[in-house]
Amino acid sequence: LPAGSVTLGEGRGRSSRAAVSVADLRGAGSPAPGGAVRRHVLTAKKASVRLPSGREIDAWTYNGEVPGPTITATQGDLIEVRLRNADISDGVTVHWHGYDVPCGEDGVPGVTQLPVAPGADFVYRFRAEQVGTYWYHTHHASHVSVRKGLYGALVVHPRDGQRADESTAAGQVDLTLPVHTFDGTVMIAGRDGRTEHPAPPGTPVRLRLINTDSDPHRIVLAGTTFRVAAVDGRDLNQPGEVSDVGLRLPAGGRYDLVFLMPGRSVALVVDDDRDGGLRLRPDGDAAGAARIEDTSGLPELDLLRYGAPAAVPFDLRNADRRFTMVLDRGVAMVDGRPAYAQTVNGRGHPAIPDQLVAEGDIVRFTVVNRSLETHPWHLHGHPVLILSRDGTPSTGSPLWVDTFDVRPGETWEVAFRATNPGIWMNHCHNLPHAHQGMMLRLHYD
Ligand code: C2O
Ligand code: CU
Repeated sequence: LPAGSVTLGEGRGRSSRAAVSVADLRGAGSPAPGGAVRRHVLTAKKASVRLPSGREIDAWTYNGEVPGPTITATQGDLIEVRLRNADISDGVTVHWHGYDVPCGEDGVPGVTQLPVAPGADFVYRFRAEQVGTYWYHTHHASHVSVRKGLYGALVVHPRDGQRADESTAAGQVDLTLPVHTFDGTVMIAGRDGRTEHPAPPGTPVRLRLINTDSDPHRIVLAGTTFRVAAVDGRDLNQPGEVSDVGLRLPAGGRYDLVFLMPGRSVALVVDDDRDGGLRLRPDGDAAGAARIEDTSGLPELDLLRYGAPAAVPFDLRNADRRFTMVLDRGVAMVDGRPAYAQTVNGRGHPAIPDQLVAEGDIVRFTVVNRSLETHPWHLHGHPVLILSRDGTPSTGSPLWVDTFDVRPGETWEVAFRATNPGIWMNHCHNLPHAHQGMMLRLHYD
C-alpha cells in the first residue's frame, strides 16, 4: 500500500465528492502565533536497559530509553517529531494516543502511512491544541512492540497558566508516571521496585498516571485526600476531594491526581503492591513511609458519579448515526478464512464492516460485552462522552475519554461529534485482542 494512496469515499459511490487523500490530511506547518516549535527525533532501536533493581531487559525503545522521552509542549506549539527506525525489522510508527491529530499524523500502518522500515524515517507534525496527559506508542505489531517498550508520554501545558493546579511553576511537583509491565515486572516511569521522591509539605502535587499495558491497573493514593483533576487528559468539572478509594485505570487511560502535600508520606500503590510504587516523602518522615495499610479492600471510585454535571456542546437527542458493537469471542471469518478471534458483531478484523459517518454528525455507540474478558474500547481521533453504563446514566462531571473499560456483561453508551475527517481505528486497547481481530475502521463518508 503506497503511502498516501488511501482515499476517503473511494469505491463507496460518492463520486459527487472529490476524494480526499490521507496525504492531504496532514498537520499544520507552523505553531499558533506566539507558539514555539518543539522538535524531537525518536530513533526506534533495540537496547538493553538496566532497571534500578539492577535487572537488564532487552527492550525495543525510542532513543534507547523505556519509556521513550516525554514530549512536552505548551498549547499552541508545533510538535515536530522525526521518527527514525534503526533496527526494528518489522517496522514502526508513532501513534499519538488520545491526541486528536489530523488523520495523516495518526501513525496507523496500512491506513495513514506505511510502517517505517529500518533505515527509513517519517516526520509527524501537528499543533499541540489539547492540554493534558497523553502518550504515544508504535501502532505496528503493537501487541508485541508496545509491550517491549515502544511508548512514551506526551504532556501539553496550558498557555495562559490559569488552569487550577497547573504545576509547571517552581515549587510544584509534577510527575509523569507511565505504568508498564515488562515480563511480569511493573515499572512506574521506567523504574522497578519502590521509588521515592521528595515533596515539602504544602507543595501542590500532580501525578500523571498512564496505563501503557493491555490490562487495567488498580491505583490507590494512601496518606492524603486528593482529586482526580483530569481523565484521559481532559479536566473534570468540580472534582471533589476523595480518600480511601481505589481507582481503576483502563488500558491506555490516564488520570491526573492532584493534592497538596501533607506533612507525612504519601504512597502511590499500584495493584495493591505495598512494597512497590512511589513514595512522596517530606523530609524526616522515615517512620510514616513504612506504614501502609492493606489497600485491597478499598472501594472503587465510580467516575460516572464523580464531579458535577455541566452542559455538553452538542445535543445528544439528535444522534445522526448509531452503531452497536457486540464484543465476543469465537470463530469468525478473518481474511476469508475461519479463525478463532476476538469479534465485533461476530466478525474479526478486517472483515468487520467500516462505520461510515459524515463530518458534523453526532454519533452514538452502544458497546455490549458478551465475553468473559474486559475490553478497553478506544476510538482514534475523537474523545467520546460517556452516556451510560448498563443503563445507568453518567450523573457526575461530563466524562470525555478516549478509552473506556467495558467489563464482562456490561453495556456502555457513548457519543461524540465527528469533527476530524479521515479514517480512524476503533478497537480494543487490549492490544493482543486488537491483534486477534477486535478492531475496525470508522470512515468519513
Ligand atoms: Cu493507543 Cu490504536 O491505540
Ligand atoms: Cu478486548
